[in-house]
Amino acid sequence: MVIGELLEIGKTLIEGRDYIDPILESILVLSNLLEVDKSYIYIHLDEEVDRETEEKFIHIMEKRSHGYPLQYIFGEWDFMGLPLHVEEGVLIPRPETELMVEYIIEYISKYHRNEDIKVLDIGTGSGAIAISIGKYCPRTRVYGTDMEDIPIRVANINRNRYGLSNVSFYHGNLFEPLEDIGIDGEAQIIVSNPPYIRSEDMSTLQVEVREFEPKSALDGGRDGLDYYRKISIGGKRYLRPGGMLIYEIGYDQGKDVENILREQGFTCISILKDLQGHDRIVLGFLK
Ligand SMILES: C[S@@+](CC[C@H](N)C(=O)[O-])C[C@H]1O[C@@H](n2cnc3c(N)ncnc32)[C@H](O)[C@@H]1O
Repeated sequence: MVIGELLEIGKTLIEGRDYIDPILESILVLSNLLEVDKSYIYIHLDEEVDRETEEKFIHIMEKRSHGYPLQYIFGEWDFMGLPLHVEEGVLIPRPETELMVEYIIEYISKYHRNEDIKVLDIGTGSGAIAISIGKYCPRTRVYGTDMEDIPIRVANINRNRYGLSNVSFYHGNLFEPLEDIGIDGEAQIIVSNPPYIRSEDMSTLQVEVREFEPKSALDGGRDGLDYYRKISIGGKRYLRPGGMLIYEIGYDQGKDVENILREQGFTCISILKDLQGHDRIVLGFLK
């Protein structure tokens, strides 16, 4: 079969889903399999494709037709300009999270430019937050934790890819794996993008997320706020006085998370909006 015919098959397999651009995705998948540029595909529509690639392509497009995320198909996704390995079992890093990381990097370069500081990333997933902070702020020492096996393995792959000796990952529940490493009261920043979907809303998520991304990365308990409560309480042991606790939140959780931080004695609390004008980040400082 030639490239043009395969693209037609790909398009037919996935068209009709409102969040998929069938031709563009078919081109992306095929160019990835053939290890060529997208532009190569456009000008070689009559080129013959070998049988094995043909079968792989159709298999992938069939999976995609059920909503399987493109990022898992490629095994890679860009975060803060850094291609990261992703696979089933880790949350695909989101552009909203980049906003929070940009804020943190700016904060570090403004207030801790010439200091060696410690940053904790709780629920690190692919390591996206920890790795970009460690890469762009080389004087930070970043500690990421995750309760699941696959994220810790994937985060280490990503860490090694960028040779970041200032970033380490720990397997376990929230702060537990940090209990015995002697960093109590030493962190300038604790960051987390925790699971924050209300349990009852899990079934309303887009199929790509609901069916294929890990539930352990999404479900934030009955009111979606379980992790904000636990991290705000547990984090106080690790923050320095004046240290910052910063969260990514769901668009309607700003006030609730602000209240949690206030109840735990944090001060100078702010809610920041994303590019769509939704509440997206809450931060506060330990007195
Ligand atoms: C929303 S994902 C965020 C992943 C990554 N930080 C990002 O922003 O792309 C939340 C992560 O928290 C992890 N997690 C869930 N419960 C946890 C717990 N009790 N302790 C540590 N990590 C946990 C999940 O495995 C998942 O990787």
